[in-house]
Amino acid sequence: MGVGKKHQEEKLINMKKERIILITGGAGFIGSHVVRRFVSNYPGYMIINADKLTYAGNLENLSDIESKKNYKFEKTDIVNKQAAMALFRKYNFDGVIHLAAESHVDRSITGPDEFVFTNIVGTVNLLNAALDIWKNAPEEKLFYHISTDEVYGSLGKEGFFTEETAYDPKSPYSASKASSDHMVRAYNHTFGIPAVISNCSNNYGPNQFPEKLIPLAINNIKNNKPVPVYGKGENIRDWLYVEDHAAAIDLIFHRGTPGETYNIGGNNEWKNIDLIRLLCKIMDRKLDRPAGTSEKLITFVKDRPGHDLRYAIDSSKLQKEFGWSPIPSFETGLEKTVDWYLSNTRWLENVISGDYEKYYDSMYSGR
Ligand code: NAD
Ligand code: TYD
Repeated sequence: MGVGKKHQEEKLINMKKERIILITGGAGFIGSHVVRRFVSNYPGYMIINADKLTYAGNLENLSDIESKKNYKFEKTDIVNKQAAMALFRKYNFDGVIHLAAESHVDRSITGPDEFVFTNIVGTVNLLNAALDIWKNAPEEKLFYHISTDEVYGSLGKEGFFTEETAYDPKSPYSASKASSDHMVRAYNHTFGIPAVISNCSNNYGPNQFPEKLIPLAINNIKNNKPVPVYGKGENIRDWLYVEDHAAAIDLIFHRGTPGETYNIGGNNEWKNIDLIRLLCKIMDRKLDRPAGTSEKLITFVKDRPGHDLRYAIDSSKLQKEFGWSPIPSFETGLEKTVDWYLSNTRWLENVISGDYEKYYDSMYSGR
């Protein structure tokens, strides 16, 4: 998007009245980028970040904005129906951006239950609370549900997921996200809750928990540990820089039409093994290691059960309607990501040691 046009749009949006916005899962990877963007770009908005702080929630992600006047953290488990309702009663939100979820496919294979509770029951609890509190003026409100391209299932070598592609989830994670998408659509259709959904491809960038492919590989390469590649590394993902996702969320939240779905993707497909090789090259350069050193760490391991072969997104609707496009090239984005992890060693050490979980107590207990 051109800078001039972007400023013009932001000016227009800033002219809108003051609003109280709920962002769920704001202490997580994508949520923290969305919270920062909204707190910084919309001083007229009060941003309430409701997060349970599971292993994936890290308030250190937001330490730079936590003292801003238009930001407040509410420790909340969305699976607790009363807690979800109490939050809506307390704030009567003007809008919701719902990111809270269990998000790791491998964890959904070893323990699917939590995915059912948080992703399905948690979403329904928020919808019920919105329905109850918003009944008098729903047309002024918006429930924006953040979903994944994984709900569409797995592609062969050809084709792209469009907004019309039939759902065909294959993992407990994607099945739980698909269920929550269906519930959001059902509440829109049946009860008139103004809702939009977006389905995005794999995100990467700063603050991602190092159990997902890219931060895990960066950390292992840095520490000269094996880099596990599932199967033959032939699986293909479309990768999007997290700030591009946050920018798309911003546009959809402000301009999306209730009842609509928007696909978000990087137009950036990579075979896992090629991605890891590129990452190894970047790491060799950044760590002043002889070319080829990091590649020796690549270790092929047992494949993920039911491993989806390929995801690829057609995001032309979003591009045409709102002029959105992903900004950095993959190599630039990957390099920025590597730089972030290499210069934020304390963040990484705290996550790996578990010390980040003490952050809430040290910063928030007694408040
Ligand atoms: P994440 O795992 O980094 O963060 C999830 C956040 O939700 C954490 O802060 C966690 O504490 C919170 N949470 C979990 N259970 C909760 C509960 N019961 N109550 C309140 N908070 C709870 O996830 P992410 O990668 O930032 O993903 C955010 C959203 O985007 C998810 O809905 C995910 O499905 C979707 N998404 C992610 C990707 C990706 O590549 N990461 C791609 C497309 C869509
Ligand atoms: P991941 O980051 O877990 O995201 P998702 O499963 O939602 O796509 O994995 C991305 C790809 O990398 C996926 O094809 C599985 C693969 N993978 C590995 O090969 N090794 C790993 O250690 C991890 C975590 C993932």
